[in-house]
Amino acid sequence: MGRIISVSNRKGGSGKTTTSVNVSAALARNGNKVLLIDADPQAHTTLSFGMTSKDINLDLYSLLVDRKKTEQVITGTYLNTLKVIPATRKLTSFERDYSGLKEARVWFADRITEIADKFDYIIIDTPPTLSLLSISALIASGEVLIPMQTHFLSLEGLAEMVRLISQIRKLYNPEIKLKGVIPTFYKEKTRLSKSILYEIGKNLGTGIILHPVRVNISLAEAPSYGKTIFQYNIKSNGAYDYMALARQIEELK
Ligand SMILES: Nc1ncnc2c1ncn2[C@@H]1O[C@H](COP(=O)(O)OP(=O)(O)OP(=O)(O)O)[C@@H](O)[C@H]1O
Ligand SMILES: [Mg+2]
Repeated sequence: MGRIISVSNRKGGSGKTTTSVNVSAALARNGNKVLLIDADPQAHTTLSFGMTSKDINLDLYSLLVDRKKTEQVITGTYLNTLKVIPATRKLTSFERDYSGLKEARVWFADRITEIADKFDYIIIDTPPTLSLLSISALIASGEVLIPMQTHFLSLEGLAEMVRLISQIRKLYNPEIKLKGVIPTFYKEKTRLSKSILYEIGKNLGTGIILHPVRVNISLAEAPSYGKTIFQYNIKSNGAYDYMALARQIEELK
């Protein structure tokens, strides 16, 4: 069975989508079979591949609610080892209509386990909310990666995520592990970035801190062209950092 990894942080703009897209692409470039799932109604991962609602017939909603077959909702990308389950605005109605239904929390896990043996990695981009979708993704996952801006105000969000993961472990999913914290928007050689890493290490152990992703304008530009960083600017620091991070994730098994 493939590794199922949620990329989560309740804090908005922490680099979840950028990390999901580019780690998935890097793992796929390394020859792994990767499925990237857009579990955010904002559909930023979907847009990052240049797909808009009019290109999409079936999305994650169709898998979860309409019970469509997984083969029907999976779409291809420029890499034949990388597949995507896209999101549309319909996911907002999933949140609205099913949040009160406790059993809906495990639908995601049920559907994903059916296909987990077809992939080496299933990466899930999650919304910046404590919602049915973000909880469902954690229930379905064996591992969690938390991208976190290297700012002081982000430390509180990290502590909150650690508490959430331990609740999910107790209530639903004894297997779930926090596999790493990814420092994002990292500014090398600044005292702030260093002291944030020190704080994380002090609380969670230095082993939890993965390869930092530096601030890099190409990472912010690539999605507007519907491209991953490897298509948009292979020579950028962003491409280098996400490649190094993906190698590290492969070794974390
Ligand atoms: N290392 C980086 N350097 C420069 N810009 C970045 C970097 N990482 C992400 N960005 C940009 O910052 C913004 C927020 O990043 P991203 O969308 O990945 O965060 P997110 O956690 O998914 O946000 P949300 O919580 O809304 O889902 C985006 O415009 C993205 O292109
Ligand atoms: Mg996002």
